[in-house]
Amino acid sequence: MSSPAIVGFSGNITRPSKTRSFVDLVVQDIATRHGLTGHTYDIDDVGPSLGAARWSRDLDDRGQTILAQVIAADVLVVGSPTYKGSYTGLFKHFFDLIDPSALRSKPVLLTATGGGERHALIVEHQLRPLFGFFEAFTLPTAVYATDKDFTDGVLRSELILKRAAQAVDHVAVLLADRPGVRLAAE
Ligand SMILES: Cc1cc2nc3c(=O)[nH]c(=O)nc-3n(C[C@H](O)[C@H](O)[C@H](O)COP(=O)(O)O)c2cc1C
Repeated sequence: MSSPAIVGFSGNITRPSKTRSFVDLVVQDIATRHGLTGHTYDIDDVGPSLGAARWSRDLDDRGQTILAQVIAADVLVVGSPTYKGSYTGLFKHFFDLIDPSALRSKPVLLTATGGGERHALIVEHQLRPLFGFFEAFTLPTAVYATDKDFTDGVLRSELILKRAAQAVDHVAVLLADRPGVRLAAE
């Protein structure tokens, strides 16, 4: 498996998933704009070894490969459906398996979905502190979408698409300083 520069990780535990589709849309936007490769994973991709894992070494080969790709990413796009006002338990468990210093200085774009507007601040009150713990560079614009912003599982809201594009605009600033990243000409 090659190492994509832009990695998406979505905390959805069922498919089809609006969150996965949203995270992947952002990943592909960044990858296309900068001529880089991108790939999105979710909890389903990590597989059944995640739930029982106490340490990253307990993950099966595929789970360990995905964990390694998240750690190696030049830009990480994360997203989770809102479950009971926060990210899903398995999303948190996946990041609990990562060494506290492994995501230091990594650009991270935060996204989330929810059934309605009530928990829109999940991106600021739940996701941002988690990646603050890791001393990652969370991008200033975080994006939350509700079920009504999707049609047939695809994000269609002009407002949210515009906000996502605005979030992606900030990636160039951080990518320019990443060692080994050669950006495509604008
Ligand atoms: C167990 C469970 C708990 C949920 N809790 C919330 C919640 O607290 N707030 C909210 O806005 N939506 C909540 N939802 C709705 C989902 O966040 C929403 O439908 C989400 O977009 C689903 O994403 P997915 O298609 O990627 O699974 C919940 C859904 C489930 C199944």
